[in-house]
Order: sequence, then C-alpha cells, then structure tokens
Amino acid sequence: MITSFASTPIQKQCSPAPIGIFDSGIGGLTVAHAVMQTLPAESMIYFGDTAHLPYGDKSTAAIQAFSVKICDVLLREQCKLILIACNSASAAAYDLAREYTASRAKVLNVIDPTIEYVSERFAGQTIGLIGTKQTVNSGVYERKIGELGKNITLQSLATPLLAPMIEEGFFNHSISESVIHTYLSDPALAGIKALILGCTHYPLIKGEISRYYGDSVEVIDASQIVAASVRKYLADNNLFNNASAGFRKFFVSDYTPSFAASTRLFFGEQLDLEQYRLWE
Ligand code: DGL
Repeated sequence: MITSFASTPIQKQCSPAPIGIFDSGIGGLTVAHAVMQTLPAESMIYFGDTAHLPYGDKSTAAIQAFSVKICDVLLREQCKLILIACNSASAAAYDLAREYTASRAKVLNVIDPTIEYVSERFAGQTIGLIGTKQTVNSGVYERKIGELGKNITLQSLATPLLAPMIEEGFFNHSISESVIHTYLSDPALAGIKALILGCTHYPLIKGEISRYYGDSVEVIDASQIVAASVRKYLADNNLFNNASAGFRKFFVSDYTPSFAASTRLFFGEQLDLEQYRLWE
C-alpha cells in the first residue's frame, strides 16, 4: 500500500548523484554494463531483487509491490535517475514507479526506447518479440506500438525457458541451440523482419539467435538502445557527473555465492554484491 508521494525536486544542472538501476536479479547487469560503457564517468547503484526472482512468472501486483520497495531504496541512495532494467518490471510497474517517485527522480524503462527504435525503422512491417510470460502477456509492446500509428504488426512469443537456461550457463551449446530453434520456429514468429530481445538475459544469446536467422532478420538488443537513451536524458537535462569520481554499488535482496558467480556472465567481471533486505 503506497501512502506517501513526497516531492523533493530532481537535482538539475551537472549532478554527481548516481544512476539507480534495478532488475529482478543478476540478468539486468547486461543493461547496467551497457550503461557503464556508454557513461563511464557516472556513478551507479544496482539493485537485483534476487529474493523474489523470477519476475517473469509473478503477478503484476507482486512485481509492482517489489518495484516500489526498490524505488524507495534507490531514492534513499539519492539516485538522480531510476532505470528499470527488467523487461517484466518495465511492463508491470513502470507507470506506478513513475507516479510513486514523482519529482524525486526520473524513471526510465527498457521498453519505450526500443519501441522508438523500431517505430523509426520498421513502419508497415511485421516484427517479433520474445520475453517472459509477464512481458508478453502484459500486451504493453502491442499497445505502445499501436499507439504510434506506424502500421507495425507485432507477433510475440513467451519464451520462459530461455532465462533459466542462460543463468545455468547453457548458451553457445547444443542445449541452447535446440531450445532456441524450437522457440524461433514457432509459427507465432513467422515472417518477421526484426526480433526484439525483450529480456535482460537475451543479449547473451544474441549471436545464436542471429545465426538462426542469418541476415534476414535484425535482432534487436535493447540494452544498447537503452544505454543510449539514458545518455540522451542526462545530456538533455544537464545531469552528467562532471564533479566527482564515479562509484559503483551492487545490492541484492538475497545473497548467495551462486548469484555472485553469475555476475561474471552478465557483467563480464565478478562483482562484489552487498545484501540489502527489502523487508527489514
Ligand atoms: N529480468 C527479467 C526480464 O527482463 C528476466 C528474469 C525474470 O523472470 O525475473 O524480464
């Protein structure tokens, strides 16, 4: 239950405050990594809700409750911007998170920049989307693409086996090849000109998906597009950190050595994770 919508204004001008990024777990580190590569001088606080993952099978109400709690953490850490790196949370909780944080921080999601990207390139064409059940069943991509009036047809398929498969290290492997082939040959994805990778984990299998299609389908990695949109937002609002050396913190709501080991998969280096319980 949300009881307060406090409003300390967003800090304008050059801002050393960190960028807050959150996800259901460790997979959102693909997005965090892209943001750090694009904006190396910025400080970043990452929150992975490992106590509650996966979000992809959760109800909208549950994801909304978790997301609001995480926004509170990131606001307490004085983040100037909150990026919802998780597609499932972007689908289920973006509007609420934006309303909840109000003027205290800008909230961005991973869906809108991707929609903008496809609307500029695929007017009048058919494109595909793969993601969790939550993301696909929410219908958010269809709704937002429809609102653009660009006559883009979206064909989507929930691919729930992919995230756990990747977490277990099965990519560039005969198992992943078979699972990916089975999903992508589904009639729901027939005739597409581009495929949106609508999940934090899928950049790790972008190469395999591209190989499946050859050159006939553009495979869209949202993490790069999202990082560029964060950069644009900071530039447009004079919010770059020019003032201090950047720092990084990585919180998880439940620490295990296996989550720590997985950071290498998704961020390219092993990270120190700090436990931060959401309900204590
Ligand atoms: N982070 C989620 C997403 O991008 C995938 C993992 C999960 O289901 O929690 O949708």
